[in-house]
Amino acid sequence: MTSHQKKQAALAALDLVRPGMTLGIGTGSTAAIFIEALGEKVRAGFDICGIPTSSASEQACQEAGIPLITADETTKIDLAVDGADEIDPNGHLIKGGGAALLREKIIAHAAKHFVVIADQSKDVRTLGDFPLPIEIEKFSYGLTVSALRRVLSSLGYDNPSLMLRSEGGEFVLTDGENYIIDAKLGRIEEPDALEQALNLLPGVVECGLFVGMADQIIIGEDDGVTIREA
Ligand code: 5RP
Repeated sequence: MTSHQKKQAALAALDLVRPGMTLGIGTGSTAAIFIEALGEKVRAGFDICGIPTSSASEQACQEAGIPLITADETTKIDLAVDGADEIDPNGHLIKGGGAALLREKIIAHAAKHFVVIADQSKDVRTLGDFPLPIEIEKFSYGLTVSALRRVLSSLGYDNPSLMLRSEGGEFVLTDGENYIIDAKLGRIEEPDALEQALNLLPGVVECGLFVGMADQIIIGEDDGVTIREA
């Protein structure tokens, strides 16, 4: 059961939290379980403060009673805990299913230790079945999409589907008021080259490839967890 696996992973990550830490707090359903469990500890007197990676997580943290600061109030983040959409055997990730990839990446990059929590369905041999989220500027998004097509084609991704993410007939806006393109790429053999090429394009704010960023991956299973040092 995925929700049970997510809980196993979230609780194992909670064991890594020490009093006095500043925590980067991720986004998504697995991160939400972590927030709930962390909130219980905080309400029992555990002293930490959090930096949420999205307005959704900010609200969940507030409801759970977790003291928060903004990312501008510190340069020291001891630990970041977040979910993922796909994790490959090298610990590279696709993230952004919840449209929070930019803030998630800033916080994961700044944290001393970045821990990924996920159920077994996220553990894949090669990235790319999950459409890659790419956050782009709203301004002239058509030009950015054309540029994305050219760059993807030059890297061997022929005519991929690039969908502007929408919900209820409206384009999804990220917390930074940008759009998301979901790129169906199939197999991503060289995530680092792809990440670099995408992020060089004007109009691309960030892509959901997290290459070499995770320090530890916790995969929840039905009867425990597997922990990989990345
Ligand atoms: C949000 C994310 C999430 O971490 C990712 O989508 C996984 O979510 P979930 O835990 O709900 O499966 O990257 O932008």
